[in-house]
Amino acid sequence: MTTENFISKNIQANFTTGSVSWQSPSNIALVKYWGKYGEQLPKNTSISFTLSNCHTKTKLHYTPSNTHKFEFEVYLDGQRAESFEPKILKFFERIEVYMPFLKQFKFRIETGNSFPHSSGIASSASGMSALALCLMSLERLTNSDITDEYFYAKASFLARLGSGSACRSIQGPLVVWGEHPVLPGSSQLIGTTLPFEIHDNFKDYCDTILLVDQGEKVVSSTVGHDLMHNHPFAEQRFNQANQNFEAILEVLKTGDFDKFISIVESEALSLHAMMMTSEPYFLLMKPNTLSIIHKIWEFRRETSSKICFTLDAGANVHVLYPNAEKEEVSRFIENELAVFCENGKYIHDVVGIGAKVLL
Ligand code: DP6
Repeated sequence: MTTENFISKNIQANFTTGSVSWQSPSNIALVKYWGKYGEQLPKNTSISFTLSNCHTKTKLHYTPSNTHKFEFEVYLDGQRAESFEPKILKFFERIEVYMPFLKQFKFRIETGNSFPHSSGIASSASGMSALALCLMSLERLTNSDITDEYFYAKASFLARLGSGSACRSIQGPLVVWGEHPVLPGSSQLIGTTLPFEIHDNFKDYCDTILLVDQGEKVVSSTVGHDLMHNHPFAEQRFNQANQNFEAILEVLKTGDFDKFISIVESEALSLHAMMMTSEPYFLLMKPNTLSIIHKIWEFRRETSSKICFTLDAGANVHVLYPNAEKEEVSRFIENELAVFCENGKYIHDVVGIGAKVLL
C-alpha cells in the first residue's frame, strides 16, 4: 500500500448539492503515539481502544462552486467557529492531492461534540475522523465503484493527515497504527483492526474519564511531538513502545490482566516522562492526577480489582476496568475519586466499534 492508492480516480463530474453526516468516536491509546516524521507518519506503532460515548457528530453540506478556491465555513454547536478554520484549511491543503475535487465545492461544516468543549478531552481524533468520513461519503457519490474496504482505509488515511491519532477512530474495538513486523497488514498510513479475536477479558472494557483539569491543553500535540526531535531518550522510547506493542498483542490474546495493567500504566508514565525530560520540559500532571493514581494503586492492592489508569498529554485520568467490575469500580470512583475532579465531573465510556453514518 502506498500513498498513490489513495488518489481519487474515476470521478464523474455530476456534482450536486446535498449533505452527509457521520458520528465518530474518540479513542484512548494503550501504547502511545508520541513522535512523528514526514507527512504525519508515526515513529512507533500504537494501539488504542475505540470509545463510544465521547464522539463528534459532523454534517457536511456541499454545493458545487467554480471559484477554484477552498471555500468553507465551520460551525460548532450552531455557532460560526472561525478559530477552527485555519486548521481545516491546512487539512484541505494537505489532502487536496488525494481529493482533487475539493475546490469544486463550497462547504458548510456543522460539528458538535458529545463531551463539553472545555473538558480537556481532545476533539481532534473524533473531529478529524468524522470530517474524513463525510468527505469519503462525498467521494463515493462521485464514484460508485468504491468498496467498503477502500472507503474505510481512505477515511483513516485522510483522518491521519488531519491528526495522527484520528486514523485510529474510524473502526474498533482496537486499532493499530504504524507498521510492526509482528503484525502483517499493519501500516504507517492507516489504522487497522486486529486480525484475531481478542480474549473475552478485554471485551466491552470500560473507560471512565476523570476531568481533573478542564482547561485548554498546556502543550498542544504539535508542540509535544516536536519535542521528540533531538530528545535525548527518543530512540529508547520508540523501541520501548514497539516492544510494548508486541507484548500487548500477546496479552490481548491470552487475557493476562496483570501484564495488561503493567504495560498500560508504564506507557502512560513514559509518555509523561518524555515531556518531563524534553527541552523545554513540561509537567502535565496536576496534584490531583497523582492523588488519583495513588488511590487506584491502593484500591488494587486492597481488592482483587483489575482497574488501571492511563493518561493523555494532559492532567485528566482515564480509568480502565473490565465490564464485570463496573458496579464496584463505579462506586469507588463516585466515593473516592470524584473529589479530585474539577467540579466533581467525570464521563463513563465503554469500548465501541467505531464511526457510524447518520441519516
Ligand atoms: C498523547 O494525534 O493529537 O494522545 O498528529 O499532531 O494531531 P497530531 O497529534 P495527536 O497526538 C496524540 C498523542 C496522544 C497519544 C495517542 O493518542 O497515541
